[in-house]
Amino acid sequence: MKKAIYGWSTAIPSSIDISGISEVLDVAAGTCVWTADFAQIPEVNARLALPCRPPVANPIQLSACDIETKFFPEQSFLDSLNIKTFHQDVTKPFPAELRGKYDIIHISFLLLCLTEQGWKDALKNVRDALTVAEPGGILFLDDADPVIYTEQSPPPPEDALSHDIPASLGAPGWQGKANRIYLAFALGNNFVVDLTFRLPSMLSAAGFTLAETKRGYATAGKLCHTFRGNAGDTWGFEDFSIENFVFIFEHLAPALLAKGELYQPDGTKVTSEQEMQAMLQEIRDGLRAGGAVSVGRYFIARKAGE
Ligand SMILES: C[S@@+](CC[C@H](N)C(=O)[O-])C[C@H]1O[C@@H](n2cnc3c(N)ncnc32)[C@H](O)[C@@H]1O
Repeated sequence: MKKAIYGWSTAIPSSIDISGISEVLDVAAGTCVWTADFAQIPEVNARLALPCRPPVANPIQLSACDIETKFFPEQSFLDSLNIKTFHQDVTKPFPAELRGKYDIIHISFLLLCLTEQGWKDALKNVRDALTVAEPGGILFLDDADPVIYTEQSPPPPEDALSHDIPASLGAPGWQGKANRIYLAFALGNNFVVDLTFRLPSMLSAAGFTLAETKRGYATAGKLCHTFRGNAGDTWGFEDFSIENFVFIFEHLAPALLAKGELYQPDGTKVTSEQEMQAMLQEIRDGLRAGGAVSVGRYFIARKAGE
């Protein structure tokens, strides 16, 4: 879906030159879905050092790490693409032998994982792990903001400073309820909720030079037909995208209720399972009737000189 949103034909934007690369790392890789997709790029696949093939002259080594290794695929799958995996909390420095090693580091969807300090540490550690060789290793990052918009209440323009957080939490109807779950969960954990606006300055402060960036719209339901991908087509995702959004709310609402942190758009506390279920039903109905949209953005940034 992300490829459709941004109009990429492969796991990376066509502007990233992979001819000279040899070490690629997916950070916070989860199920390694990106690494596996990257391995399908014909030029990459042809350069994987696989036991079943004669040695290649300029191999590409794929690696993936995560703070939680249980989501990695089975070893037989990893071996089939020669993907090396290891445990790594990105907010902690990489082991000395991995610093300066990677030509490309990929990160995606850490929006509900890192605080402001977490992002500062993560960007510093990732920069240290990228090669110093000219023209500098590439960080390919894509992320999103946990704020729900509708057709009547669309996302702020790209040159706005941020989202209007109070307006999003207090929005009438199901939109406000959705934000009282998704956005409120992120705020309650001190996660950065406006990454798509702030990452350019955060990257620069961490010693990166921004080479390319583009906003994308993650749409659900009917809005798949209005907020098209930058160059792609998200027509096929209407039902699937609603389930994706619903999953987020159904997963986060009980956690907020248990902590006594679930509120209605007017600020009234939700205190019962029944009230929470009614809130979720209104969100499901609203999503199915009108659709939703949230914003994402990708960044291609180079490690700036020391
Ligand atoms: C939403 S998933 C995204 C997975 C994958 N990047 C993707 O786009 O499908 C977030 C991932 O970040 C990992 N994560 C969270 N905090 C982390 C940290 N401090 N260091 C490394 N990984 C972390 C989680 O374990 C999880 O696998």
